[in-house]
Amino acid sequence: MRVLVVGSGGREHALCWKLAQSPELGDLFCAPGNPGIESVADLVPIAADEIQKLADFAADLKIDLTVVGPELPLTLGIADEFANRGLALFGPSREAARLEGSKVFAKRFMKEHGIPTAEFEVVLDADQASKAAKRFGFPVVLKADGLAAGKGVVIPRNDEELSEAFDVFFSERRFGDAGARLVVEEFLEGEEVSLMAVVDGQRFLPLATSKDYKRIGDDDQGPNTGGMGAHSPAGVLARGDAKKILDDVMQPVVAGMAAHGNPFRGFLYAGIILTPDGLRVLEFNVRLGDPEAQPLMMRMDEDLLPVLASGATGRFEKQRLDFQKAAAACIVLAAQGYPGSPVLGEPIEGIATASSREGVEVFHGGTRLEEGRLTTAGGRVLNVCATAPDLRGALQQAYQAAEEIRWSGKTFRSDIGRRVLMAIEGAAGEASR
Ligand code: AMP
Ligand code: GLY
Repeated sequence: MRVLVVGSGGREHALCWKLAQSPELGDLFCAPGNPGIESVADLVPIAADEIQKLADFAADLKIDLTVVGPELPLTLGIADEFANRGLALFGPSREAARLEGSKVFAKRFMKEHGIPTAEFEVVLDADQASKAAKRFGFPVVLKADGLAAGKGVVIPRNDEELSEAFDVFFSERRFGDAGARLVVEEFLEGEEVSLMAVVDGQRFLPLATSKDYKRIGDDDQGPNTGGMGAHSPAGVLARGDAKKILDDVMQPVVAGMAAHGNPFRGFLYAGIILTPDGLRVLEFNVRLGDPEAQPLMMRMDEDLLPVLASGATGRFEKQRLDFQKAAAACIVLAAQGYPGSPVLGEPIEGIATASSREGVEVFHGGTRLEEGRLTTAGGRVLNVCATAPDLRGALQQAYQAAEEIRWSGKTFRSDIGRRVLMAIEGAAGEASR
């Protein structure tokens, strides 16, 4: 099969790495890709949102399957364009992608289908937002309706922070039209976990659980980012929790979208928070999470290519997807300044040494080749991932490998998985006593 992967981050590197292991793969292309992806795929210089050009390329090169990594082309309707031209693509239609593209749509959909989520109001200006914030009390959660690269959520703790948030959304209009309408919702407390599935329109096959770390700083301090690290399994679910997420969230979403005449085909991601009152959905994504995709691809004990190919054009043949018992962890190395303006153009050293460690893969995010030298070219630069028999081992391996990589201004969280390990090992200690 000839396959095209669309995107250029760590998630797409991990996808290409996984697909490249398939015995059914002929040629693998990635548009636009990055210098790390070039070791497993031919790079195509077309941006992820140039839908017409991507469709022309897929038609000209007789691509059998296109897999889309990021949300933007999906919300712009890449799946619709490919479908119109008879080209196979694994990803949701523009209508189905609204589950991620519009928080208002997602919240109303959840309400209609009885899917547990935070209480909310939709507001159009500072006046309405103030009233809603009063109703919920501080801290309160404000979310831009449209896409904001994981940065459109703010959680003011007092009136001063609330009015700063209004400046950002309504005066400065930092998120443009994406922030013209807001969801204001109650603040929930609990552990977060990610559950993803592949969906063929009617049926879903769950992936293993994972957990990502969204704040820039240790102990979940500082602003939200796209994600600073992840591991699989999530390690925070009690027995039966995963099944509950499948029954109470995935199943009604897939059935509800089909019932609306917008069957969902693609990767579906539910961001869940485990509150004392039960699980609640924080968000849906219509794609794999990044960085969660990296540990998931490393653990997947399954040839992903035929799964996606069958899901793109019809029904899955498989009944379930298998994952290795081993754990996997991912540490994101970011550039100084991220999630604001990252410092670009710094030369990077040490990837080969890091990757030579047992069980380690280094997936590229924002890197670039400048006159033969690898340099930083984005906020999240590299994803250092490792598998090991247990979570502690995977985190240790990933952290040791992360230390081998150097550039000026390299930053990363030093506490990925720490609290989860303490909880798991504390519980094991109690049980053995
Ligand atoms: P979202 O893009 O909706 O997932 O929000 C990004 C992050 O903001 C989540 O991963 C949470 O850490 C936080 N968040 C979102 N909604 C809430 C909420 N209702 N209560 C507490 N934290 C939230
Ligand atoms: N890591 C969270 C996301 O991809 O949205």
